[in-house]
Amino acid sequence: MRLNLCKIFIVKLVHFLRQNWLRFAVSITFLICIWPNRYAPHYPYIASDEILDELIERTTPNVTQQFAGKLSCDYNNVISENQFMYREPYISTLLDGSDIRLGGEWMPSTCAPKYSTAVIVVYRQREKQLDAFLTYIHNFLRKQLIHYRIFVIEQYDQKPFNRAMLFNIGFVYASQFDFPCLILHDVDLMPMNLGNLYVCTRKPRHMCSSLDKFRFNLLYHGLFGGVVSMETKVYQFINGMSNKFSGWGGEDDDFYERLQAKKIDICRFGPDHSQYTMLKHNQEAPSENRIAFLSNGSLRYNTDGLNSLEYKEKEVKLHKLFTHVLAIT
Ligand code: BGC
Ligand code: MN
Repeated sequence: MRLNLCKIFIVKLVHFLRQNWLRFAVSITFLICIWPNRYAPHYPYIASDEILDELIERTTPNVTQQFAGKLSCDYNNVISENQFMYREPYISTLLDGSDIRLGGEWMPSTCAPKYSTAVIVVYRQREKQLDAFLTYIHNFLRKQLIHYRIFVIEQYDQKPFNRAMLFNIGFVYASQFDFPCLILHDVDLMPMNLGNLYVCTRKPRHMCSSLDKFRFNLLYHGLFGGVVSMETKVYQFINGMSNKFSGWGGEDDDFYERLQAKKIDICRFGPDHSQYTMLKHNQEAPSENRIAFLSNGSLRYNTDGLNSLEYKEKEVKLHKLFTHVLAIT
């Protein structure tokens, strides 16, 4: 009896699909591709006309001095026009790199920048991605009229990749240059909207909330990986990131928990200002102990981080497009 009902149901379903296959295909395509909610903001964010008020105006002491009395750069247009930048020629060609200083530093020449940012990129054995990143990011950042310097922190050993420890190392070098603002950056993520200013906001900011890999959706509210910005003093205040998470996963969640523990909220820009594309690579195997470290992380916030950082500096090289730190973890 039950089997018969089942059979009837299947036969009817097949019949229905045969008769309506076009409508069915169109509906499915609509659901997958052009669903109105696909780019929907599922999260609270700073409205674009409020972005400027949220930015922290601070430059490194040498830049402050150098531009004293000069007219400030204007950032209104950069934010409101929000040009889509991930296109030719910006992605493939470095456009007149002669104004980039050795070590990957740049500042505008016609107006006084209001912001100084150290972009810290963690890296190992992804030469093609690093090439693509450096070309694009210099084209992108110079159009934002900020003062910045690119630091590439390379893990120069064969141990599992320790993303968080490399950011702690990056902090050390960015601090030597007195950068008030840090952007912690994966090498495979490309910002697409010019209005996503590479500048610190009052609250630490998750910058890549609209990532193509996740079909431009935010996976969960506490996601704080990929690309984030934070004042240098806040990074120091929470003792940086944990040094314990070697291998893939969890270190960014622990970082978020560190902020929460100090009652520091995070913020985001809207999806129109936070689109990123991820360069393709094989998915790393998640580390096995990440869940355990995450669950008892709070016991270590004060003892595991910047204040327990140990590494060996193999070399620091100044390249044309970046400052290269080779570190043994
Ligand atoms: C991991 C994070 C990662 C996120 C998104 C989480 O399960 O713990 O480290 O950033 O997934 O891929
Ligand atoms: Mn990646």
